[in-house]
Amino acid sequence: MVKIFDMAILSISRNSLLLLFLLASALARPSAKLETRAVTDASLKAVSTAFSKAGIVPGVIPVFKPTGILDVVFTVPTTQKAVNATPGTNLTTQQTANEPNFVLTVSDTTIASNAEFVVALFDPDAPTPQNTTFAQFRHLLGAGYRWNADTGVLTNTTAALTEFVPPAPPPKSDPHRYLVLIYEQSEDFACKVPSILNASTPRTNFNMTAFSDALGLGAPFAGTFFFTGPSEST
Ligand SMILES: *[C@@H]1O[C@H](CO)[C@@H](O)[C@H](O)[C@H]1NC(C)=O
Ligand SMILES: *[C@@H]1O[C@H](CO)[C@@H](O)[C@H](O)[C@H]1NC(C)=O
Ligand SMILES: *[C@@H]1O[C@H](CO)[C@@H](O)[C@H](O)[C@H]1NC(C)=O
Ligand SMILES: *[C@@H]1O[C@H](CO)[C@@H](O)[C@H](O)[C@H]1NC(C)=O
Ligand SMILES: *[C@@H]1O[C@H](CO)[C@@H](O)[C@H](O)[C@H]1NC(C)=O
Repeated sequence: MVKIFDMAILSISRNSLLLLFLLASALARPSAKLETRAVTDASLKAVSTAFSKAGIVPGVIPVFKPTGILDVVFTVPTTQKAVNATPGTNLTTQQTANEPNFVLTVSDTTIASNAEFVVALFDPDAPTPQNTTFAQFRHLLGAGYRWNADTGVLTNTTAALTEFVPPAPPPKSDPHRYLVLIYEQSEDFACKVPSILNASTPRTNFNMTAFSDALGLGAPFAGTFFFTGPSEST
């Protein structure tokens, strides 16, 4: 007993403290993605249930069987705090003002490490959930996203097809649903896309299903959605 106790005392040497510090730093690093959820049958089911409950499946996209978990992390301009758009979260226009980070958690890291992804953020409730004359409204569309296996963050390697504009539902509108979907990029995406969508394609009356069909994207790989209502000052 005494021997073990002595060893414990001895082990708190300067080197050990340094080692402990290094270990703590290493452990602290993944906490950058601390709010992300693991990929389990339950977490995937929770996402698809939320999509059905919000009428997104089949109202906006015909099917959604996610195999990855997506976290959409906004940085609030005034506080620099991170907010995570997990499925069905209510966010304000202030919270969603900046282009978010896309954090993907997958079980098959080999596929994710070798794939490129298409990221779409769009509004099926424009100008209001009751009158969808302008829907879908494209808030962001980009391809060539690569997955960082350490952080889970998806980073674009090419310019956006449609640059991010923040949610801005009109005054008095009910909150809109904002969908973020991740697709595995098809082989011929880059050569096919210019004739289908380019700088002159209006953001309004977009059809994600028609777009993904035309480019052979198949069903989305991961996704989330959040609600945002008009800014309180309007
Ligand atoms: C989000 O806001 C709606 C009202 O627009 C409310 O019914 C719902 O409970 C809120 N959800 C959460 C998780 O706070
Ligand atoms: C729907 O919204 C559009 C655009 O604001 C408007 O022109 C149109 O009159 C609205 N339709 C109805 C039925 O309210
Ligand atoms: C990635 O997207 C950002 C924001 O749209 C853009 O400024 C940047 O140039 C893009 N990166 C590349 C490599 O195109
Ligand atoms: C740009 O996209 C539109 C569809 O929005 C398409 O009709 C048009 O042919 C495309 N332009 C080019 C130069 O491919
Ligand atoms: C969107 O495209 C799909 C597939 O082409 C089609 O079935 C659907 O009716 C379209 N939705 C709208 C609102 O045009």
